[in-house]
Amino acid sequence: MLENIEKYLQEVAAFESNDPARIEQFRIRFAGRKGIINELFAAFKNVPKEDKPRYGQLLNRLKQAVNQKVAELKAAAQESKSSQGGGLDVTRPGYPYRLGARHPVMIVRNRILDIFRRIGFNVSEGPEIEDDWHNFTALNLPEYHPARDMQDTFFVELHPDWLLRTHTSSVQIRYMEKHRPPIRTVSPGRVYRNEDVSARSHLMFHQVEGLYIDTGVSFADLKQTLLYFTREMFGEKSRIRMRPSYFPFTEPSAEVDVYWGLETEEDYRITKGTGWLEIMGAGMVDPNVLRNMNIDPEKYSGFAFGMGIERIVMLLYQIPDIRLLFENDMHFLEQFKSVL
Ligand code: PHE
Repeated sequence: MLENIEKYLQEVAAFESNDPARIEQFRIRFAGRKGIINELFAAFKNVPKEDKPRYGQLLNRLKQAVNQKVAELKAAAQESKSSQGGGLDVTRPGYPYRLGARHPVMIVRNRILDIFRRIGFNVSEGPEIEDDWHNFTALNLPEYHPARDMQDTFFVELHPDWLLRTHTSSVQIRYMEKHRPPIRTVSPGRVYRNEDVSARSHLMFHQVEGLYIDTGVSFADLKQTLLYFTREMFGEKSRIRMRPSYFPFTEPSAEVDVYWGLETEEDYRITKGTGWLEIMGAGMVDPNVLRNMNIDPEKYSGFAFGMGIERIVMLLYQIPDIRLLFENDMHFLEQFKSVL
């Protein structure tokens, strides 16, 4: 019996391999559930009494030797594997990076800003949480003015004066607080209105505001600027039309339509058979607004405009439902990758 164990000890000491499968075989042969070591332990009760201490000692030594051997060989095998490239199969196809895509609203926003940058406008921004003064009062919309109803407002419970801005016109005010004419700025950003969400309107959307103030700015300048914009945005052949309208902060005010065409049935549907689509509000800055900002209306005049970005996105990409733009469905958003 004792000689048996000694023989095994020699065998263990002599075993060498760097093949993980063979090492595992070796481990199972000795240390497996039905392996040699367990067998020898089971045989312990049949060992003559006087041999028992020696037997126990040798058996424990064998057990340790096996464990140590297996650990050593496994580590060595692992190391030689990684020094040969770690089992890396360089012919395997790689994991492709998922390229991000710019959101269509951002693509169009950037294009709009670029078009105005080219004629000397800078870009300015303001906060989405506004106070009454910047969103309404300074824009010639005093409290109880009925035109406040044009834009249903989300108020912020924390403070009776705070609200989510209903338009980017608030940035006009912030800009005039900090800058004196000449002013040429475009202000992109999110706006919020307490409206039912539908295919055509959302409670959150994006606008780009424009403000131009200098000496001798006329309605002709406004028209020419918007025509330039439309041609850059929608193509050389596009036309605009201005319809009289009302905004408290501009006088006179207009709604601006772009000619979309009547060539296809789709054009008919989108434009309700007229070929024209409204894309923005605009007008000459009301003298009251200039006065609120300590700008002398006798000396300076200017124009302002505000357009909804989603409206233009939907036109350019023929997207039928505004909600698609805010669901963040990757399959939808990835389609716009190639556009810019
Ligand atoms: N603020 C207006 C709106 O949100 C748009 C506008 C901006 C009109 C500037 C005139 C001048 O509807």
